[in-house]
Amino acid sequence: MPADTLTLTDNRTAKTYEVAIKDGAIKATDLRQIKVDADDFGLMTYDPAFMNTAACKSRITFIDGDKGILNYRGYPIDQLGEGSYVETAYLLLHGELPNAAQLADFSAALLARVEVPAFFDNFFHAFEQSAHTMSMWMAGLAALSAAYPGARKVLDPASRHEYTLRGIAQVLTLAAYAHRRAQGLPIVKPKAGLGLVENFLHMLFDREPDPVLVKALDVLFILHADHEQNCSTSTMRLVGSSQVDPFTALAAASGALFGPLHGGANEAVLKMLRHIESVENIPAFIEGVKKGEGRLMGFGHRVYKNYDPRARIVKQTADAVFAVTGKNPLLDVAVELERIALSDEYFIKRRLYPNVDFYSGLIYEAMGFPVEMFTVLFGVARTSGWLSQWEELICDDDQKIGRPRQLYLGEARRDYVPLENRG
Ligand code: SDX
Repeated sequence: MPADTLTLTDNRTAKTYEVAIKDGAIKATDLRQIKVDADDFGLMTYDPAFMNTAACKSRITFIDGDKGILNYRGYPIDQLGEGSYVETAYLLLHGELPNAAQLADFSAALLARVEVPAFFDNFFHAFEQSAHTMSMWMAGLAALSAAYPGARKVLDPASRHEYTLRGIAQVLTLAAYAHRRAQGLPIVKPKAGLGLVENFLHMLFDREPDPVLVKALDVLFILHADHEQNCSTSTMRLVGSSQVDPFTALAAASGALFGPLHGGANEAVLKMLRHIESVENIPAFIEGVKKGEGRLMGFGHRVYKNYDPRARIVKQTADAVFAVTGKNPLLDVAVELERIALSDEYFIKRRLYPNVDFYSGLIYEAMGFPVEMFTVLFGVARTSGWLSQWEELICDDDQKIGRPRQLYLGEARRDYVPLENRG
């Protein structure tokens, strides 16, 4: 059996090196021994945007982008929809599906913490009503850091457990409060006797939630809960590696998610569909994209070079929601846009398929959410994934404060030139 090593020859020096291969990777620090002379730093890897760099080991989520596979702790995403978001959050955090007693205890623990400190009653009035809801929600996450100084004990497992529960529960309340502010409406407090997602809808819309919509949002939250080392989760890990409290790290992660190339894409998709407006305008829009005049938002993915398995489930969920809310007229534009794009060489060659953001906004809009809430809805669900990944980071003996290196291509040392001599 050949050894699990890589033999590297540096042709600059004719020296050879044996580098260990473990878990399908080599350790980048093993390359530092490869030098031309004693002054040489040794080789580094250069990987802008981390296209082929593992920053951590994880046991939470597995993605096979070529096969369109997404598993949480080994369970396929399409099977987890049979359960609830609370069950999935437990699975992500603890690594196993809960039994009935564990699920009941976990659900009760979250609901017991769904209220936020009283200062939040007017917190969002510090913003103009026109402020973007995602911006307000992000500020709310940072404010939780002020509310819970005890959360700074990140090396204490009991503290991490307590504030993880508060985080998963209270991001929903903050989202509802921010939404009510944006709508010019008074806040609605959580109601005893409702489940977590039910309570969220109650706080948002101040009415008895329709069970079909509760189930649909549950499924959407399951789909958005985690996705291995995406931009916002990597941010959560990098910021968390400084041993800051989890709410500060959540605020940072939510900022990464807000970007239109990441979680902000669901809002961008809806605006794109509104801009296209009708099926007749699709060919001209596609031609514009192919000329580089913009992107087909909700399409493409760094890892999925096949159909995002979540997009398929979102599309199926749309049917159940529209049966209650009435069909979103933009659905026909989205379906035709997908059909045309998937048969166009530009998209086929680049392996661009619908991702999780392509259809989700159509459902959110039909459920009564303004577009400014779409990324917030992504973030409240991803909070369970962010905190699960953070817990794994803190407990990983391989990890220390994240601090990437650089390839310095700037000026060599030079002496200061006094102002009068600069010409
Ligand atoms: C999410 O990482 C995750 O897991 C994220 C996420 C999660 O759950 O956390 O899955 C959630 O963020 C989903 C992605 C949402 N974003 C969008 O829908 C925005 C539109 N999509 C893209 O901008 C793009 O596809 C990315 C950002 C998602 C991925 O970009 P990559 O992997 O960096 O690819 P790239 O930008 O280098 O593009 C490669 C080629 C380029 O063409 P060429 O230069 O080769 O000619 O594909 C083209 C791009 O121009 N391309 C697109 C396109 N996406 C890529 N062209 C038109 N429309 C698009 N959407």
